[in-house]
Amino acid sequence: MIAIGCDHGGYELKQEIIAYLEENHLEYKDYGCYDTNSVDYPVYAKKVAHAVANKEAEKGILICGTGIGISIAANKVKGIRAALCHDCFSAQATREHNDANIVAMGARVIGPGLAVKIVDTFLNTPFSNDERHVRRIAQIED
Ligand code: RB5
Repeated sequence: MIAIGCDHGGYELKQEIIAYLEENHLEYKDYGCYDTNSVDYPVYAKKVAHAVANKEAEKGILICGTGIGISIAANKVKGIRAALCHDCFSAQATREHNDANIVAMGARVIGPGLAVKIVDTFLNTPFSNDERHVRRIAQIED
C-alpha cells in the first residue's frame, strides 16, 4: 500500500497522482487533505510518515506548495527518509542510494506530467543494497 498526503497547496497535484495510482492498479490510502482549504502541512506529513514508519504503507508520497515543509516534517519521524525530488534522476538516485521511503514534491514547482514520472521512477526503482549505502543509512539512524 502507498500512503499519500498533501496540504492545500498540493491538493490538485495529489489528485493527478491518485489518478496515476488508480490507472496502474496500485493500492493506496489518501491521508488528506481533501480540498483546497488552508491547512497545516505538518499534520499530513506526520500521518503519512507514521503509516510508513509503522509499515502500514510500503512507501509514501507527500505534496505541498514547495515540497520543503512537508518533507522537513516527515523526516522528524524515526525511520523516515523523505526525499524532495523535482527530477527523475534524483528520484532514481534516492531509491538506489538512500532507500528513501517517501517522495516529496512541490506543486508550485513542477507540473503534473513531470510529477507523475517522478512518482513512477520512485516507486519502480529498487534500493541498490550496496554495502556502502547500507552503512551510510545506518549512520543516519545513530
Ligand atoms: C502553504 O502556503 C505553503 O507554505 C506550503 O504548501 C509549503 O510550500 C511549505 O513548505
